[in-house]
Amino acid sequence: MKIAVIGTGYVGLVSGVCFSELGNEVVCVDKIAAKIERLNGGEVPIYEPGLQSMIASNKEAGRLRFATDLNASVKWSDIVIIAVGTPSLPNGQANLGYVEEAAREIGNAMNGYKIIVTKSTVPVGTNEKIANIIANHTEKPFDVASVPEFLREGTAIQDTLHPDRIVIGTDSPKARERLVELHKSLTPDIIVTDIRSAEMIKYASNAFLATKISFINEIANICEKVGADVTKVASGMGYDKRIGSSFLKAGIGYGGSCFPKDTQALVQIAGQMDYDFKLLKSVIEVNRDQRLNVVRKLESLLDGLAGTTIGVWGLAFKPDTDDVRESPALEIIAALERRGAQVKAYDPIAGDNFREIYGSNTVIYCDNAKEAAWQSDALCILTEWQEFLQIPLTDIEGWLKLPYLIDGRNIYDEGQVANTNLVYYSVGRPGMN
Ligand code: UGA
Repeated sequence: MKIAVIGTGYVGLVSGVCFSELGNEVVCVDKIAAKIERLNGGEVPIYEPGLQSMIASNKEAGRLRFATDLNASVKWSDIVIIAVGTPSLPNGQANLGYVEEAAREIGNAMNGYKIIVTKSTVPVGTNEKIANIIANHTEKPFDVASVPEFLREGTAIQDTLHPDRIVIGTDSPKARERLVELHKSLTPDIIVTDIRSAEMIKYASNAFLATKISFINEIANICEKVGADVTKVASGMGYDKRIGSSFLKAGIGYGGSCFPKDTQALVQIAGQMDYDFKLLKSVIEVNRDQRLNVVRKLESLLDGLAGTTIGVWGLAFKPDTDDVRESPALEIIAALERRGAQVKAYDPIAGDNFREIYGSNTVIYCDNAKEAAWQSDALCILTEWQEFLQIPLTDIEGWLKLPYLIDGRNIYDEGQVANTNLVYYSVGRPGMN
């Protein structure tokens, strides 16, 4: 099939490349000429394991190309995938400006029957709006479908090529048949629904995963008080298939470009219908507060933070990505600085992105882990990069001025820390707090 993907952000780029990997002809379109130039020159604007080589081999095979010309790309295609951003407005609502603009341009470019698929995360009812916009700009026949994306950063290719399920929301039998055909090699679990349910599945899934994280973080906070170990509690809970073991890792809360944005948006969607989504509001509140636990621990350990030097390892919102959007590190470092600490920060790959978003010149950005820990009053781990686990704890002990290690991601176990003189605090584990 000939597929035009509009938007070369995370979702658009990875989906486009994976569809070409499956043998389809794909053009990935973006307005930003510099981005397309870089992609044509073999550079990949995001860090995602395996993506660069997959782009190279599919370009080489003539199945994948990058372009700025939306009109020509849409005319050439059978299926158009909208994968532009839906960032949060100040009130938490999803900003649909890019989606609506894409729909207008697609409408103007229509030259025959096409299926317009939305992969961007959009509020319920948006695909109907998209259909109306397109219909206002063309007489040509088309169908719309919502095919939400469930890939995670860092494992995006694996998630796209081996998904747990594919959700196709459409009211057109023709679109349904073609889209099932397009996805059927990926998984036997293809769920076909009406459009509104498909749109809702995406928000409900992200909201549920965020709920699991806030839930286990609150359990961790209680574990600290009653002397239980949250990792054992989570493991014991996870054996129950109704609960499941994933997304029960306690820490400093969720970040990234999806959970914070989508949970806020779902609260707004409910609110517009006069429904107060109390549970999800609490999930968001718990997440906001959880980030500051490490700051509170440091404050009480060091008797205030004014004049202290705090080493920070990890700036990305999770490992294997250079993405720092809504990363807990942004708020934690800001809180440390507000309380008068000098922060020395290191991340294997997200340092430049962090510096760009955080925008302060008071943080000292280090080239390696040792530099950030060196002569610091405490070291704080905010992202569970594998690289950190390779560093012997005795080295860390030797580098620090004071022996305080605050592990916001529970990367070490009891045995490892017991052999050192480090004063170790983790999340929700007794004797380690
Ligand atoms: C998330 C969803 O997992 C994807 O299914 C979805 O497609 C994507 O959002 C999206 O809507 O585009 P992603 O944001 O890439 O994917 O990352 P996750 O692996 O879900 O992690 C999100 C955050 O939760 C991270 O900050 C991570 O550290 C945190 N987390 C995750 C925990 O604190 N504990 C856990 O047990 C799991």
